[in-house]
Amino acid sequence: MSLTSPVTDATTPLFSPTLISPEVLSALPEGYTCRPMQRNDYHNGFLDVLRVLTTVGNVTEQQWDERYEWMSHRNDEYFLLCITNDEGKVVGTGALVVERKFIHNLGLVGHIEDIAVAKDQQGKKLGLRIIQALDYVAEKVGCYKTILDCSEANEGFYVKCGFKRAGLEMAHYY
Ligand code: ACO
Repeated sequence: MSLTSPVTDATTPLFSPTLISPEVLSALPEGYTCRPMQRNDYHNGFLDVLRVLTTVGNVTEQQWDERYEWMSHRNDEYFLLCITNDEGKVVGTGALVVERKFIHNLGLVGHIEDIAVAKDQQGKKLGLRIIQALDYVAEKVGCYKTILDCSEANEGFYVKCGFKRAGLEMAHYY
């Protein structure tokens, strides 16, 4: 889909804020909040936070808007959320992608993707809060499990978040 102008309002939440865990909201540091991503997060430092995770590239605002619109039409499948600080700047983000299956009685599986906390904000339990927030969404929308891939170096973090090692990742790169 190619769009010349965005359809979604700049501050409309990607998905319903009722899916944000009240426990996570009350556990965050003063002035911080957790909310669904919104289109104007392009200007709130969202991509810079992702740069602590991997290469992002030079994404123009138009490219961002097009991807955002695509996701907002699939907001029962793509749940991207942010933690913002007292200035409204994005300091952490994570995604839950919900896969719909035939097996397990038409089961839903949550995939946790692209977890990142800004370098100068790490160690404040924000990563843990992001995972707890995504777990809450997954349970609320009816996933029977949530899975993720990570490096050995991050295994300890996910164990602290309640995950356990299961299986083996394999990849084909194109
Ligand atoms: N190994 C072992 N334990 C860890 C690690 C680690 N790499 N990172 C954090 N922990 C522990 C903390 O010490 C803390 O333990 P405690 O409860 O005993 O004090 C607990 O895990 C929670 O830590 P947080 O403070 O919530 O972690 P933080 O906010 O720094 O976020 C994260 C962790 C997301 C890994 C962050 O360091 C980061 O953004 N790293 C760079 C990007 C990255 O690697 N993202 C994950 C990719 S995998 C994926 O996306 C599915």
